[in-house]
Amino acid sequence: MRKPIIVANWKMNFLRDQADLFLQKLLARLGHNQTVEVGIAAQDLFLPDLIKIADDSPISIVAQNAHWENFGAFTGETSPKALANIGVDYVMLGHFERRELFNETNSTVNLKVRTALNDGLDVIVDVEEMEQVEPVLEGITEEQMKGIIIGFEPTFAIGTGMSASTKGAQDVAQQIRKTVRRLYGAPTAQAIRILYGGSVDRDNLADLIAQPDIDGSLVGRASLDFQTFWELVKIMQ
Ligand code: G3H
Repeated sequence: MRKPIIVANWKMNFLRDQADLFLQKLLARLGHNQTVEVGIAAQDLFLPDLIKIADDSPISIVAQNAHWENFGAFTGETSPKALANIGVDYVMLGHFERRELFNETNSTVNLKVRTALNDGLDVIVDVEEMEQVEPVLEGITEEQMKGIIIGFEPTFAIGTGMSASTKGAQDVAQQIRKTVRRLYGAPTAQAIRILYGGSVDRDNLADLIAQPDIDGSLVGRASLDFQTFWELVKIMQ
């Protein structure tokens, strides 16, 4: 049984007080013993505050990127070991905007995935198409796959208001699961969580998460308004 997960990807939005307040409100409504995992992916500066607020709660705190080295002369970068050290739960790697705007490739994403897992961080690895799955997982062991979630975000759907069709999203999620089965065997394929992202909103989420191979969602724009995001969480419950 795979636990559904919804991740708010705030991208480079909010100021510190807004981020803190959003999370406090979310915690007040969520309570404990959730059937759905809720993740908040925030910019690095906000992470220590959010970790404190979310302490001992069902909310997972997610970093939006990290480097593939832990220490060294990499000015301006964030160390995955440092993220693990402050208590971050997941790091998201390979998001479309990282690839498109910051020249990340399957090969750099794969390096990052390997380092993050070795540091004890769980990873949400994003792909825009099926063909990216195998290269970003290269060298990852069956045991390490327990720390991986795969996010599928078709380029045309990101921030456009045009989600993939329910069938289209399910077809790709099913293909991703088949690829994982080929690479790692049936138990890993059965256990791995696959998320859909791209213009998720109140109108399409229920149908998307009803699909057999879609275990949750990555939400960008619709996660910036508290009430809207809360309604999405309720749809997932
Ligand atoms: O990680 C989230 C995605 O980039 C989707 O963003 O919901 O604004 O389309 P969006």
